[in-house]
Amino acid sequence: MHVHPLLASRFSPLRFDPESTLTDDDVDLLLEAARWAPSAGNSQPWAYFTARRDEPEHKRIVRHLAASSGRWAPSAGLLVVTMAHRFVEDTDWAYSDFADYDLGQSVAHLTLQAHAMGLACRQFRAFDLDALTEDLSPGAGWHIVSMIAIGRAAEDRPQDRERRTTSDLRTAPWSGAL
Ligand SMILES: Cc1cc2nc3c(=O)[nH]c(=O)nc-3n(C[C@H](O)[C@H](O)[C@H](O)COP(=O)(O)O)c2cc1C
Repeated sequence: MHVHPLLASRFSPLRFDPESTLTDDDVDLLLEAARWAPSAGNSQPWAYFTARRDEPEHKRIVRHLAASSGRWAPSAGLLVVTMAHRFVEDTDWAYSDFADYDLGQSVAHLTLQAHAMGLACRQFRAFDLDALTEDLSPGAGWHIVSMIAIGRAAEDRPQDRERRTTSDLRTAPWSGAL
């Protein structure tokens, strides 16, 4: 048995084809995949602000990118801002203890759907969070968490990717205590 090819072949490119575009149906399908992720109590504490390269919202987001992501993210066909519903409106009560966890899982679904469609994603946090929050003004209790650049990869999957071993996953958190 091997890890499923969809998982094994996924990677996060740093170069996107600047000519490649996504259709409305492509964007709908990505969000459809995100929508079907599991979440604590089926709370679905996620929201996605989308901007294709040819839409006015794209410029609005691009100006908040850091210098690093500004070098590659604008050429992706689609930029997505992810948001988590952390608090009940106008209170400090948690809407869900798992809001960010569930958002991450929803993003994972979106990422694999994109890969199945021949698209690649690079998630990133290299942007001005305060300025973007002020600009997009998410609803009360909602917080911007990350962004995703989605498009056709303009590079091959690197050969030298590194991951911790499965035995490390099983032992690392407990090894000091034993
Ligand atoms: C929450 C999150 C934040 C990330 N932030 C950045 C970032 O700011 N800049 C960047 O170049 N890559 C960023 N990445 C991409 C990771 O560096 C990348 O997923 C990791 O190196 C593993 O590579 P792979 O996705 O190709 O397997 C981020 C990924 C995640 C999930």
